[in-house]
Amino acid sequence: MLSIPARSDLRRAPLETQRTVLLPIEPTDAAELWEAVDGSRWHLERWLPWVPFSNSPEASLRYAEACLADWDAGRAVRLAIRDRQSRQLLGVAGLDSCIHLHRSCELGYWLRREATGRGLMTEASRVCVEFAFRRMSVHRIRCAAATDNHPSLRVIARLGFRFEGIARQAEYVGSRWLDHAVFARLSSDP
Ligand SMILES: CC(C)(COP(=O)(O)OP(=O)(O)OC[C@H]1O[C@@H](n2cnc3c(N)ncnc32)[C@H](O)[C@@H]1OP(=O)(O)O)[C@@H](O)C(=O)NCCC(=O)NCCS
Repeated sequence: MLSIPARSDLRRAPLETQRTVLLPIEPTDAAELWEAVDGSRWHLERWLPWVPFSNSPEASLRYAEACLADWDAGRAVRLAIRDRQSRQLLGVAGLDSCIHLHRSCELGYWLRREATGRGLMTEASRVCVEFAFRRMSVHRIRCAAATDNHPSLRVIARLGFRFEGIARQAEYVGSRWLDHAVFARLSSDP
């Protein structure tokens, strides 16, 4: 089974990297989430199917409330990535689709446009992967990206995931079908 640390533990001792801190998404993050998504809409909506549905501050609040409920029910662990110094919300890294029986989950992420190109997602998602293996007892992490989402494919490569195959027309995003390159890392991988 997976063991998911309490949100209060993470709030007390957030995940940290050299330049970021990662904290459980909670309703108090809703306004900043809205600002980040709305301010980076064109950058995000090409790859993420939920962006058109994030169309008001209330939608961001509902998402943040769902994050809280999903964490507490053991369904998903979603973390706000913040700049370590300014505490500005830079994006999200999440371990979704937690399956306790198989000790598996799925890594997903996005950054606001201004935060890209600095290595921050590689840094933040690396610590998420370590968290999943060491603190949640995850055995397998899946990660998928559209076959033409090169920035995301480079993140996945830097994290040491292994290519497994192509899921054809896996998502319908912005009026086009996206083929997904599927990767995974196992806790037993070197
Ligand atoms: C996917 C996404 C998070 C990747 O962001 P990113 O900024 O390219 O990734 P990183 O934060 O790891 O930064 C890596 C880049 O910063 C560069 N960089 C600059 N300074 C750096 C530093 N000090 N340390 C490390 N890398 C640095 C790297 O060279 C690299 O550029 P490259 O990929 O052109 O070689 C971002 O493009 C995004 O949010 N896209 C929209 C949403 C999305 O596609 N989500 C994923 C769906 S599968």
